Amino acid sequence: MALTDSTADAVDAFVTDLLATEDDALRRALRAGDEAGMPPIQVSAPHGMLLQLLARAMGARRILEIGALAGYSAIWLARALPEGGRLVTLELEPRHAEVARDNLRAAGLADRVEVVVGPATVSLRKMTETNVEPFDMVFIDADKEGYPEYLEWSLRLTRSGSLIVADNVVRGGAVLDASDPRAAGVRRYLERLAADERLEATVIQTVGVKGYDGLAIALVR
Ligand code: SAH
Ligand code: DHB
Ligand code: MG
Repeated sequence: MALTDSTADAVDAFVTDLLATEDDALRRALRAGDEAGMPPIQVSAPHGMLLQLLARAMGARRILEIGALAGYSAIWLARALPEGGRLVTLELEPRHAEVARDNLRAAGLADRVEVVVGPATVSLRKMTETNVEPFDMVFIDADKEGYPEYLEWSLRLTRSGSLIVADNVVRGGAVLDASDPRAAGVRRYLERLAADERLEATVIQTVGVKGYDGLAIALVR
């Protein structure tokens, strides 16, 4: 069978039903984001499950997310946390943050998730200044121009053995197009992953309901 967008979408639906089933809280988050007029750019359910599995596999107790939107990926990630674990998610738009908080509360996760409003760089700087405990995992998914800077801050906020995952690093192949500023941010991000001796990383290309895209996964040595 030829790979078409509709084939990839159908397989994603099949995998979602089978292995990455969305419960009421996740469906509510999607609906609330939609009703608030937010763009439907959250991770797919299979990718949400991948984030959860990575966090669980490494026993993450502290997770940092950059870009909360309606809190959909935050729900997947926070569900990986053990008792006493914490997810901090950074969000520029107060309206998004408000909807995300609401969705996380409805998911029963308010006690372990903090939604921090403001430009991510400001929140990241503050966290380094207050010497917060290092994060075991970081999920970067905000403005693509900011990715290189988010990587620098993430390195200051993690430890040896932490995982840094970034979304949307392929974007239909746009990563190869130097003239697109968003793609340029992602490209510089990947080049820094390669150049930094503290990191070992790869990119996995993906298809599905989000189209042709990819995730970068980096381990802090
Ligand atoms: N991780 C979410 C999707 C995030 S979409 C999920 O999968 O469910 C990207 C989010 O990043 C948007 O909500 C956008 O408002 C936010 N964002 C954009 N620029 C930002 C910045 N400079 N600082 C913090 N958040 C930002
Ligand atoms: C966009 C952002 C995302 O994080 C994503 O997963 C898909 C699209 C966007 O800004 O268009
Ligand atoms: Mg994304």
